[in-house]
Amino acid sequence: MTKERAKLTRLLRKDLVGLKDVTKEEIELILETAEVFKEVAKREVKKVPALKGKTVVNLFYEPSTRTRTSFEVAAKRLSADTVNFSSSGSSVGKGETFLDTVKNIEAMHPDVIVVRHPSSGAPHLLAKRVACSVINAGDGTHEHPTQALLDMMQILESKGRIHGLKVAIVGDILHSRVARSNIYGLTTMGANVRVAAPKTLLPKDVERMNVEVYTSVEEAIKDVDVIMMLRIQLERQASNFFPSLREYSKFFGLNSTKVKLAKPDVIILHPGPINRGVEITSELADSPQSVILNQVSLGVAVRMALLYLLCGGTKDARLD
Ligand code: CP
Repeated sequence: MTKERAKLTRLLRKDLVGLKDVTKEEIELILETAEVFKEVAKREVKKVPALKGKTVVNLFYEPSTRTRTSFEVAAKRLSADTVNFSSSGSSVGKGETFLDTVKNIEAMHPDVIVVRHPSSGAPHLLAKRVACSVINAGDGTHEHPTQALLDMMQILESKGRIHGLKVAIVGDILHSRVARSNIYGLTTMGANVRVAAPKTLLPKDVERMNVEVYTSVEEAIKDVDVIMMLRIQLERQASNFFPSLREYSKFFGLNSTKVKLAKPDVIILHPGPINRGVEITSELADSPQSVILNQVSLGVAVRMALLYLLCGGTKDARLD
């Protein structure tokens, strides 16, 4: 008989750079804390004093709409001070290195640095060099842990559980940090994860990732509870991985005919930004089965929970 592990009340780590080594108990703690913070968005005054006096720096070396605004909104709702640094318009353009930049930011005594960077591993390097907490907001093709956490919160909200669900992740698995973090997180939480992509867009080590691998979307989504569509990461593709976007869309795009192969109550997730008409039709993206915009709402609660826990907060927080 397996012994139940004790529930955590605080996060015993300085940083969140990926979900590969994050335990089920830690994921549960973050998601349960996010559930508490979700309520703040419904208040007339959307602010709690939990992180008053703390400083959060958003350090973005790549474009972002959702993640950066979500972290900023999350920090502000916790009453933290926020600073947004974007590499364009900074002294990076004068040749300052990543480490020199972060050492200068650290000299201003932030409590948390949220970093997005095109190089896989940049947040890990940063976490070793600075005393404050570091959160990975997406590093190259490696991980995007807060996206996966908000995706798991969405699945929990829609389905009431993660364990035992069939989840199909479809699209550019090779270049997707969202796919990687979700594979780690969802398998840790006991989901049955399927991935589907053209052979050229599957990582070499995919067989070792505890997932079922498909090269047919129709087969992959049969009877699944959740479909997660991914954007084609054209900015990370050095060569041609498929003949044309039209052909990709025909074989790997999701439309109202294919979706009927999944369970009738299937939910459709997408991390955004969407390429309408490429990986998903507009009709499906805007359909009742799509939870894409609700994912964005839950992202704020997840990031509030994470910022709060990394700053020493405990599960039984009172939100006055
Ligand atoms: N989901 C996501 O990472 O979106 P952004 O690139 O807009 O942050």
